[in-house]
Amino acid sequence: MSSKKMLITGGAGFIGYHCTKHFSKDYEVIVLDNLSRKGSGFNLKRLMEECSIIHEKVDVRDTLGIDEIFKRYGPFDVVIHLAAQVAVTLSVVDPRRDFEVNALGTFNVLDAFRRFSPGGLFINASTNKVYGALEDITVEEGKTRYWADNFSGIDETRNLDFHSPYGCSKGAADQYVVDYGRIYDLQTVTFRQSCIYGTQQFGVEDQGWVAWFIIAGVCGFPVTIYGSGKQVRDLLYIDDLVKLYEISIQKRDILQGGRAYNIGGGTACTMSILEIVEMLREEGLDFRISFDNWRPGDQKVFVSNNNLVGKELGWRPKIQPAEGVKRLIQWVKEHQDLIRTFFQSGFDNKGFQTVGRNLL
Ligand SMILES: NC(=O)c1ccc[n+]([C@@H]2O[C@H](COP(=O)([O-])OP(=O)(O)OC[C@H]3O[C@@H](n4cnc5c(N)ncnc54)[C@H](O)[C@@H]3O)[C@@H](O)[C@H]2O)c1
Repeated sequence: MSSKKMLITGGAGFIGYHCTKHFSKDYEVIVLDNLSRKGSGFNLKRLMEECSIIHEKVDVRDTLGIDEIFKRYGPFDVVIHLAAQVAVTLSVVDPRRDFEVNALGTFNVLDAFRRFSPGGLFINASTNKVYGALEDITVEEGKTRYWADNFSGIDETRNLDFHSPYGCSKGAADQYVVDYGRIYDLQTVTFRQSCIYGTQQFGVEDQGWVAWFIIAGVCGFPVTIYGSGKQVRDLLYIDDLVKLYEISIQKRDILQGGRAYNIGGGTACTMSILEIVEMLREEGLDFRISFDNWRPGDQKVFVSNNNLVGKELGWRPKIQPAEGVKRLIQWVKEHQDLIRTFFQSGFDNKGFQTVGRNLL
């Protein structure tokens, strides 16, 4: 067993699975996850089979429970904080719960980190939603996508503009992580992540849209597109994100005093929803599509400008959507029986409302 210790909250989720699998080679990993996300139980089972890890079913809202984890297993060399209420739509339905999990939950883990593991590194998974709807950016409407001329993406000089309860709760968490680094002179970093996709992602209509479209296409579920479908996102494959976390651990001294970076596929990895659908059709998937109203705070174009993280940490994404999407299709095809079971037991075919309630 390694003498280096890592705590991964939300370690049985999509990003958590990949982090746990990767880092358990070099660290004693404690996975803290209340398994509220459909699919996390499956991910945990695989992790238990594939790696040597400890799982603690604790809720990040449980202040004393979090302290107890730090006292029992810490001090930790690295904390990767991924546990969250992840859906904008659900944050509108139940804003208090969203606040408690994302804002208070992050505070609980971060403050325990300050008191019990101040020599460690705290990595926080934030979101591009902290920049709001970006309505001031003038976009052109093309045949399959919105676009802005000479657009090099959103960088960290952009004003924060929390939009939706999810934007507010994740934004508060983001700012606490940066400020704890500054005020207590800790190593903390918050990564404002764009759309991340990859295997082990049980995407649903309101979160994990690339995976959800592939699941729907493979399993024959109907899909709804909210808005015109011309919304553009930069896509980041999970392996590139895990690589970034690894680099940030190696270069942790740069993170002393708290840093924030925008993270995404960047201008080279952009796709609109309509373009993804077309790409999936070319891969042989079939869709029944309907359209509905825009969702609150939905950005017409979000592309991360990765220059700062490239300059300071030397990271850049490598996996193109064409490659990542193929890998994910393969994984969904291999697991379609299991995924169908999930959708039959509590998910309706339309997707997110039922799934979403399960998430809470
Ligand atoms: N996937 C993306 O595209 C994306 C983009 C931007 C930011 N993020 C952020 O990255 C993090 C991980 O996202 P993900 O896609 O892996 O989501 P996920 O839902 O797959 O994983 C989150 C995990 O946290 C657990 N969890 C939820 N509430 C909890 C609680 N109260 N206590 C303990 N555990 C709890 C869930 O069971 C789940 O296993 C989240 O903070 C999310 O906001 C993700």
